[in-house]
Amino acid sequence: MARAIRIHNHGGPEVLSLDDVDPGTPAAGQALIRQMAAGLNFIDVYYRTGLYPIPAMPAVIGNEGVGVVEAVGSGVSEVSIGDRVAYCMSLGGYAEERIVDAALLVRVPDGISDNQAAAMMLKGCTVQYLLRRIYPVKKGDTILFHAAAGGVGLIACQWAKHLGATVIGAVGSDEKAELVQAYGCDHPIVYTRESVVQRVKELTDGLGVPVVFDSVGRDTFMDSLDCLQPRGLMVSYGNSSGAVEPVDLRVLATRGSLFLTRPTLASYISTRAELEATTTELFDVVRSGAVKVEVNRVFPLEATAQAHRDLEARKTTGSTVLTMEG
Ligand SMILES: NC(=O)c1ccc[n+]([C@@H]2O[C@H](COP(=O)([O-])OP(=O)(O)OC[C@H]3O[C@@H](n4cnc5c(N)ncnc54)[C@H](OP(=O)(O)O)[C@@H]3O)[C@@H](O)[C@H]2O)c1
Repeated sequence: MARAIRIHNHGGPEVLSLDDVDPGTPAAGQALIRQMAAGLNFIDVYYRTGLYPIPAMPAVIGNEGVGVVEAVGSGVSEVSIGDRVAYCMSLGGYAEERIVDAALLVRVPDGISDNQAAAMMLKGCTVQYLLRRIYPVKKGDTILFHAAAGGVGLIACQWAKHLGATVIGAVGSDEKAELVQAYGCDHPIVYTRESVVQRVKELTDGLGVPVVFDSVGRDTFMDSLDCLQPRGLMVSYGNSSGAVEPVDLRVLATRGSLFLTRPTLASYISTRAELEATTTELFDVVRSGAVKVEVNRVFPLEATAQAHRDLEARKTTGSTVLTMEG
C-alpha cells in the first residue's frame, strides 16, 4: 500500500484525505513509479471543487510528478525500470506510488532536481505552448501576462524575456511586483491599486499589446480584451477567479477584429512527438539557466490541504511541490 491524497467528494481543502491506496500492477503500456515529489497546480483545485469533472470517486488528484520507474507492463518502450521520469496531465499525482501511461513519461536529465522536475512539467510545458506555439513571442514584442508571480507566470516572465520580449505582468501586491521584476518582468502592474488597461495603454503609446495571456478568467476577461491592439490575440487559458461567462462574439469585432483562443495543455502534447519536442525545449531553457524553476514552497504530502489553502489565498509565488518523505 502507498499513501495518497484522495477526494471522496468535491468540496474545499477539507475533502483532501490521506488514504492508504493499492497502486496496482501496470498493464500493457503502463509503468509503476515510486514518486519523490508531486507538483501543485491550480488545475488541482478545479478537480477538487468539481469545476473539472472526475471520472470516478474516490480519486487521487494531482497532475504532475517525478519518480523512479519500478515496474513496466508489456510493450513499454519509452522508459525502463530505474529511470528517473516525470509527467504531467495524468490524474493521480498526489501519491507515493502510482501507475502512469508510459507514453506520458519522459526521462529527467541531470542538472534538474526532483523538486524542480515535479514543479516544471505542467507549468513549463504550458509556457512552452503559450509562448512558442500559440503566439510565437519574438524580439520587439510587448506582451501582457496575468498572475505573473505564480507558478506558470514566473516561468513565463523569464522565458518571454529570453525570447526578447518586453513583459508587462499583472500581480496582486507590491511584494509580488518586486519579485517578478527580478525574473524578467519589465513592467509589473499591481492590479489591486492600478488600472491594468490604463497602464498597458500608457506603456504602449495608446496602442495596446498584440497578445494577452489570461489565466485569471472571469475577473479579468473584459479588461484583457481592452488591452489588445486591433487584430490582437486573447489567450484565455485559466479560471483562477472562476470560469469566464459566455461571450457575445461582437465584443471581438468592436475592439478591432480580435482573435480569441481557450487552449488546454492536453491538446498541445497529445502525441509522443509533441510531448518530446515540448519537454526537450523546456529542459534546454532550464539547463541553460535562461529559465529558473523556483520551488518557493515545499509541503509534505500529508499537508496537501494547507498547500491548497495557500494557493487559493494567493499566498504562494513561483512553484509549490508536495514531497513524499515522511
Ligand atoms: N490551459 C492550460 O493549459 C493551463 C495549464 C496550466 C495552468 N493553467 C492555468 O494557469 C493558471 C496559473 O496556474 P498556477 O498553478 O501557476 O497557479 P498560480 O498562478 O501560482 O496561482 C494563481 C494566482 O492567480 C492569481 N489570482 C487572481 N485571481 C485569483 C483568485 N480569485 N483566486 C486565486 N488566485 C487568483 C493570484 O496571483 P495574484 O495575487 O498576483 O493575483 C494567484 O497567486 C491557473 O488559472 C491554471 O488553471 C492553464
